Amino acid sequence: MTAPYRFLFDHLATRTDAERAHHAGFLAIRAGRPVARHTLGRRAGEPVERMGLRFPGVLGLAAGFDKNAVGIDALAALGFGFVEVGTVTGRPQPGNPRPRLFRLPTDRAVVNRMGFNNDGAELVAERLARRRRTGVVVGVNIGKTKVVPEDQAVDDYRLSTRMLAPHADYLVVNVSSPNTPGLRDLQAVERLQPLLAAVRREALRATDRYVPLLVKIAPDLSDDDVLAVADLVVADRLDGIVATNTTISRDGLRSTAAEVERAGAGGLSGAPLLHRSLEVMRMLRSRMGEEPTLIGVGGIATIGDAVERLAAGADLLQAYTALIYQGPTWPGRMNRALARRTEPALSGKDVR
Ligand SMILES: Cc1cc2nc3c(=O)[nH]c(=O)nc-3n(C[C@H](O)[C@H](O)[C@H](O)COP(=O)(O)O)c2cc1C
Repeated sequence: MTAPYRFLFDHLATRTDAERAHHAGFLAIRAGRPVARHTLGRRAGEPVERMGLRFPGVLGLAAGFDKNAVGIDALAALGFGFVEVGTVTGRPQPGNPRPRLFRLPTDRAVVNRMGFNNDGAELVAERLARRRRTGVVVGVNIGKTKVVPEDQAVDDYRLSTRMLAPHADYLVVNVSSPNTPGLRDLQAVERLQPLLAAVRREALRATDRYVPLLVKIAPDLSDDDVLAVADLVVADRLDGIVATNTTISRDGLRSTAAEVERAGAGGLSGAPLLHRSLEVMRMLRSRMGEEPTLIGVGGIATIGDAVERLAAGADLLQAYTALIYQGPTWPGRMNRALARRTEPALSGKDVR
């Protein structure tokens, strides 16, 4: 954390509601875009070719920060090589009642139960259509509208796909948020297989451009279930997996019981997620071979975390919580450090 950001964080951010701090921070990032582009953005990292796309840098912003695709280029100007917008649902929805976002600073973690608050597929599609394309890769993450019954979930994902696929560089089917009742049950392969097949068919119909399709999984799946999703992706020739979403576990936290209690239910992100997300990455890569694309996300905050995740098999990385704790200069700092350290790590030398 840089000194000015530490001052702001300590004196402002930690004393205001976390969601209000998020909106204020995002506004500042958007307003600061012209400046950032000429300073931070020059450190966008080394390009990575995957899924027929050219990612300007290996580090991307995870889903949930820019749910409505309002700040893609401002976020790229911080140094993110790609931005995954969403989760977007078929219909607009307000999400859960506030407060619904909590920091656990002792653990460098966040608990959220936002519940897919977003403008809905139609409006987000219009916004993406109006945007002038720049080099940044834009992933679109789609999820189920809360009021849609579970037996109509596939149609809801298809609706989002129809509207959003034409504007997405890649699509992610999110079946792993803990904040939409029943959503994570869609990770069971007998339900996931037809869902992903339907989304793929719809994407092919919606645009003549090939849109890579990935699935985002929870770290709370059993090892067997992780491997079952890996096998499905290989068998059905999907493009890859985003691993992982937040966890419902509260094991091993150092925050007080009262702090954890105050945050309540929701998905935990940040440092406590690091170990399991890394473990899932290793499992996926050794099961799937080299071909499918793996995006590693969960607790990445230091250059060591990033290098370790790449060595475990990730092709690309994402983060969200580190941006909260480290501030807007973090992606640029990571890119510079990665450019210096990736090669030795991949050739097997110990860089930690
Ligand atoms: C406030 C917040 C909102 C999130 N919203 C979404 C979301 O809408 N869709 C999604 O797939 N993941 C969402 N996530 C999960 C992140 O994309 C990421 O998978 C998770 O936070 C782990 O990464 P991290 O430890 O770097 O934050 C959200 C995370 C946070 C902290």
